[in-house]
Amino acid sequence: MTSPTRICCIGAGYVGGPTMAMIAYKCPDIQVTVVDLNQQRIDAWNSETLPIYEPGLHEVVKACRGRNLFFSTDCRQSVADADIVFVSVNTPTKVTGVGAGKAADLAYWEGAARMIASVSTSSKIIVEKSTVPVKTAEAIGKVLQRNCADPEVHFEILSNPEFLAEGTAIKDLENPDRVLIGGRDTEEGRAAVEALSSVYERWVPRERVLRANLWSAELSKLTANAMLAQRISSMNSISALCEATGADVQQVAHAIGTDSRIGPKFLNASVGFGGSCFQKDILNLVYICESVGLKQVADYWHSVIQMNDYQKNRFVERVISGMFNTVSGKKIAILGFAFKKDTGDTRETPAIDVCHGLISDGADLCVYDPQVPKDQIHRDLATPKFLWDHPTLPNGAQMPFSCSQIEKSVTTSSDPYQACAGSHALCVITEWDEFASLDYERIYASMSKPAFIFDGRNVLEHERLRSVGFIVYALGKPL
Ligand code: NAD
Ligand code: UGA
Repeated sequence: MTSPTRICCIGAGYVGGPTMAMIAYKCPDIQVTVVDLNQQRIDAWNSETLPIYEPGLHEVVKACRGRNLFFSTDCRQSVADADIVFVSVNTPTKVTGVGAGKAADLAYWEGAARMIASVSTSSKIIVEKSTVPVKTAEAIGKVLQRNCADPEVHFEILSNPEFLAEGTAIKDLENPDRVLIGGRDTEEGRAAVEALSSVYERWVPRERVLRANLWSAELSKLTANAMLAQRISSMNSISALCEATGADVQQVAHAIGTDSRIGPKFLNASVGFGGSCFQKDILNLVYICESVGLKQVADYWHSVIQMNDYQKNRFVERVISGMFNTVSGKKIAILGFAFKKDTGDTRETPAIDVCHGLISDGADLCVYDPQVPKDQIHRDLATPKFLWDHPTLPNGAQMPFSCSQIEKSVTTSSDPYQACAGSHALCVITEWDEFASLDYERIYASMSKPAFIFDGRNVLEHERLRSVGFIVYALGKPL
């Protein structure tokens, strides 16, 4: 197969939606259907209010929706009709059974594979878009081939991991550093790699489409996320040392980032990394290493997660110790709840851990985020760790706080000034651009004194704020 004409993607989430929209946008002759079991999500993709906030996404969807881009819940028919089936379902951390708390839960993937096998009457290329443990293609291959009634139907599995980051997804998809395609080194495998490559080559220079074997491609994705997260944990560890010594973590980052072997990107110390993938993918890597007996390798990568947890706790402790060792009964404004700017996604956001830490010490919080609605904030704060991506709570799951406790301790506001009014402190948790240009004189005047700022992202002008009257704590900087 050299020119596929029908693509189906199972999973209309943060990856499936934007990725398929870009393929449809760039390849008007290919019909792209994105399917999902979640009716509400599909309805939103078909509406004016897309289910995810992503700069530039609406324009791309609008340009091709109804032309060659379709969103549907008719998974079976769309899969049956397709030449290429992308699988972009969620692969969260397992919460029960063997490997709970580390291993990837492939139940959604397996469910998709069984469905593909049951409806297929023609051979197809099956593309792993989800992030999966190395060797998943082998297991999925067995599920596919052994559940298909027609022995003439052949499934050729490719690994095509996605490297987009939320908030810059459209830019990343339009101009990717690379596209990675892993396939079997057989005639069918090589043909499938070429067929998928021909889709990307409509807009990605051929030299940026990397070819690899299946296992290298699968493992490259986990490794890329582990390396990216490791850079942040490394800088966060240094931020603690900076605070203890009077060095400035931004100056250190700049100085080391000018070494071309290190490079300047991804060196921002923060309150901790969040997002749906870094933690789960590293835990998955740790689990794989443990499974093959590589304890030291597992421990090495696990320390990246431990440092992230340390950083989030350290931030909470700094807020409490800075405010005379207690925040009980004090109002604290939380600026930003999303895990990074330019997204409404709150999966594994450090804001959850920070809010939990402050609520535990008795604080009353008022949260402002330009993209995250109140219901979501309350739901996130009442959901046990790891369980946000599971439909039902397993027996014995511990709720961090009851819903009524969250209702009592956490209010939200759609206005940053209102969120800060009457507060003793404000904490910047997400680096939204608008936080840098707020009227801090006005905010200072409305706050209890002494008025504290804890900048968990180093996005404010600290000296200016000190001259306004604030007591400012900036991450990894001298007090
Ligand atoms: P998501 O939860 O936003 O979307 C997954 C969708 O799959 C959900 O809407 C769910 O309803 C649907 N689904 C699950 N099982 C299904 C089935 N059997 N049939 C039809 N639909 C089904 O997840 P996401 O953030 O898009 O991530 C998807 C995968 O991509 C994960 O493996 C993730 O690790 C990886 N990834 C994510 C990002 C990111 O930025 N979010 C980036 C790169 C890779
Ligand atoms: C990350 C990777 O960057 C993508 O390449 C990958 O495809 C994706 O995970 C995935 O597999 O899901 P994403 O999580 O969307 O993308 O966003 P990032 O920009 O990587 O940020 C992750 C977290 O690290 C955020 O909380 C961010 O604020 C934090 N971060 C990032 C820092 O604390 N410091 C930095 O220097 C950079």
